[in-house]
Amino acid sequence: MNRKIIVLDTTLRDGEQVPGAKLNMQQKLEIAQQLKRLNVDIIEAGFPASSAGDFQAVQEIARSVGDSVSITALGRAVKSDIDAVYESIKLAQNPLIHIVLGTSNIHVEKKFNRSKDAVMQMGVDAVKYARTLLPHVQYSTEDASRSEFEYLWSTIEAVVKAGATMINVPDTVGFAVPEEFGELIRKINDRLKNLNDKVVLSVHCHNDLGMATANTLSAIKNGAEKVECTINGLGERAGNTSLEEVVMGLKVREPFYQCRTDVKTTELLRTSRLVSHLTGLDVQVNKAITGENAFAHSSGIHQDGLLKDKQVYEIMSPEDVGAESMELILTARSGRHAFKNAVEKMGFDTSDAADFEQLFQKFLTLADAKKEVYDHDVFYLVTNHRTIEQSESQLYMLESFQVISSDQTPTATVKLKKGGESIVGSCVGDGPIDALYSVIKSLVGLDVQLKDYKINSLSRGKEAIGRVNIRIEYEGKTYSGRAMDTDIIKASANALLNGINAIVLELVKA
Ligand code: KIV
Ligand code: ZN
Repeated sequence: MNRKIIVLDTTLRDGEQVPGAKLNMQQKLEIAQQLKRLNVDIIEAGFPASSAGDFQAVQEIARSVGDSVSITALGRAVKSDIDAVYESIKLAQNPLIHIVLGTSNIHVEKKFNRSKDAVMQMGVDAVKYARTLLPHVQYSTEDASRSEFEYLWSTIEAVVKAGATMINVPDTVGFAVPEEFGELIRKINDRLKNLNDKVVLSVHCHNDLGMATANTLSAIKNGAEKVECTINGLGERAGNTSLEEVVMGLKVREPFYQCRTDVKTTELLRTSRLVSHLTGLDVQVNKAITGENAFAHSSGIHQDGLLKDKQVYEIMSPEDVGAESMELILTARSGRHAFKNAVEKMGFDTSDAADFEQLFQKFLTLADAKKEVYDHDVFYLVTNHRTIEQSESQLYMLESFQVISSDQTPTATVKLKKGGESIVGSCVGDGPIDALYSVIKSLVGLDVQLKDYKINSLSRGKEAIGRVNIRIEYEGKTYSGRAMDTDIIKASANALLNGINAIVLELVKA
């Protein structure tokens, strides 16, 4: 019988540690809801001791999606962190405390400056304390792949005796290679099963050498029962193990691994696009499973072969990862019913009639401009509508604009609204976007530096939607902003304003 592999998604914790990928509460909730639809087993929702905002987001996720999916959050091996984890996740049906503490010499000596025994005791005390709060506690032996094996095992043995119910073995710096990591997991698994066969063995790999997926699959082959992954492989530095790659690896090569997951693979593409859209981090075109070209065949020989039989060049079909449902085409005449059906098919809730009506009006405006509205467009329309900040009175909104491009003096005039007040100004620049951004910066009065500006076409058709992603720096911190519109100048203005509004919200909260 195939072994079931538990899938923990850490996009909202390890994935969100990517510079500039900061998500607001609404965006985190949106992703958590989609992860629930994807049917992952555990969502790691954040690191609640790191900030009040992170605490609230974890709490909200536990409250709103923690009815059927297990929720965890990370804390260091100290009481205050464990309390923050417990308080933020306790409303979930099946909460799990996650504690991390290093086991490699470099972590023990450089990070803690304590003896190995003292560090191990910290871990034991932390687990004992966590078990007074909840029955499920995961312990991560940070930097396990660079740890001395006997110390690593002594730590695992001690924390299991203290009550840890899951042991997570991280390749924190992406140093491991598949054969060696598989062997490490086999050795730990043999001893762990003798010690307590109820304890779940988990792995968490980073991709610094591009081997996170291979290391994770090798660990599974050698007994790992749980994997930690992120959507699109987001995460620190080169990222974490990509969830979609491991899940499809197990599915396509099921007879080899004799393992399965409960992930609904037809939701993979949608989840990938949502995460990419909300974080502003593009998926590389040739990325396995979810890249734009993952199922595109361009050479004549391949196309000829495919026409004869798909299996000639395809090991899985685009439908397996949810590609086929992206093809719906709506027009302004499609009506409320068809639009509602399209929105619900994507898993979005339409029960709030007033909210749905607003959404429908936005759809009509888009359909007038674009004529043909693809599933893809509907998806971005809904996510954009749902991610508008609540506290609108604090935020800058674009009221109107005029941008004149010329080889002499490109000029932009912009009118912004903040609460009940309107402000207007004009600037010239080196080009139309420079003029536009100069006037917006002068109107909001914040000294922000534009670090990156990217524009993509999001959908097909003559009137495709343009998405603009920007990164700005303010007082040493990076913020991102994104917006989409059929008018790329308007999308550019709104992307900058969204980045500026993220700064404003942080200033308001401080
Ligand atoms: O990479 C790592 O070691 C981690 C742990 C918290 C699991 O992210
Ligand atoms: Zn990590």
